[in-house]
Amino acid sequence: MDPNETTHVADVSAPDAVIAEPIRRLRYQEAFEFAPDCQLVTDRHGILVEANHAATVLLGSRKEFLINKPLGLFAVEGSRARFYECLWRLGQGALMDAFETRLSRRGDNPHEAHVVARVGERFGDPTAPGTIYWLIRDITQWRRAEDARAFLQLRLTTAQEDERRRIARDMHDTVGQTLTALALGIQALRDAGPLPQATLCRLDVVQRLADELAGQVHDLATRLRPTALDDLGLEAAAGHLVADWSVHTGVNADFQSDGLTAERLPSEVETTLYRVVQEALTNIAKHARARRVAVVLGRNDGYAVAVIEDDGIGFDPEEIAPTPRRADTRDRLGLLGMRERVTLVGGTLEIEAALGRGTTVIARVPLQAAPG
Ligand SMILES: Nc1ncnc2c1ncn2[C@@H]1O[C@H](COP(=O)(O)OP(=O)(O)O)[C@@H](O)[C@H]1O
Ligand SMILES: [Mg+2]
Repeated sequence: MDPNETTHVADVSAPDAVIAEPIRRLRYQEAFEFAPDCQLVTDRHGILVEANHAATVLLGSRKEFLINKPLGLFAVEGSRARFYECLWRLGQGALMDAFETRLSRRGDNPHEAHVVARVGERFGDPTAPGTIYWLIRDITQWRRAEDARAFLQLRLTTAQEDERRRIARDMHDTVGQTLTALALGIQALRDAGPLPQATLCRLDVVQRLADELAGQVHDLATRLRPTALDDLGLEAAAGHLVADWSVHTGVNADFQSDGLTAERLPSEVETTLYRVVQEALTNIAKHARARRVAVVLGRNDGYAVAVIEDDGIGFDPEEIAPTPRRADTRDRLGLLGMRERVTLVGGTLEIEAALGRGTTVIARVPLQAAPG
């Protein structure tokens, strides 16, 4: 850096406050006016006092039109309440507020903009106490891309379940029929006449292999997509799953369900909660070293809920947060996949875990908002 320049800057900022103050204001004005995000100042009632260039573009109105208008006027019908709630919060002493909302753009190209607003009281301006500063970022493009991604993901998940259902049924039908034919063939050989003892022993072995194969095909098909989930519903399918899991792992598992018998849940909610229980049980078998497991399904207050609790070694959720950069976390898709699935049907997934204190997975899905 040029040493003379440093001296020069110091010289300019040094003079008395009478000159420094206008310069500071000018710089503030520049930063305000030319900021890429929409910046607004209102009074405590939300009446516009200042607006920068980006604000006039976002709202499609000239400054003269904006000033003295209530900012709430630009909120899309149905999203105005949040604006007034924000003003109320600041009036109650809150320092900051932030929310996502929709604004309507006026003028020659009217449309709706999806925005994030960050709002706070403006400090350090003794000439205008009680003014409120609004920083508004247009996220319309991002929101659109995000909605499209969620839509596509939901379609993919549905297509995947359909495919699994088809393969599971095909396996049952084709391999099942062949196995039945095999069993009939073995029986026919036995009935054909007195056979040497060695041949009979051989036939017993073939018979056992055929039975084993039938069991394996049944297990595979069930893991792909249990027919019970389509035919009998979540309660029955999850009940079988927990019981089978307990037999296979030797871990004590308790299953309870409440309020699910009267009426079937929407099919995508049933599938989602079933897959959550399935993945949670797989994780317990793989990682938890648990002695007891409890699975509870329920329906109340317009929500369907699945809770899977174990008394195993637990883990630190911070530790395992997957990042593309950490190779050891890259393949861990179980918890991520669970969360994604639940989010897609409008629900939330909570994981309560701590080292040495077991793990609880809680999925809640609202029943009205669920698509389909
Ligand atoms: N019930 C559980 N008990 C103990 N640790 C668990 C449990 N569930 C998940 N974890 C931990 O969280 C990590 C991430 O799980 P997940 O995303 O399903 O990936 P993966 O099972 O393939 O390792 C696991 O590797 C394990 O360390
Ligand atoms: Mg897993």
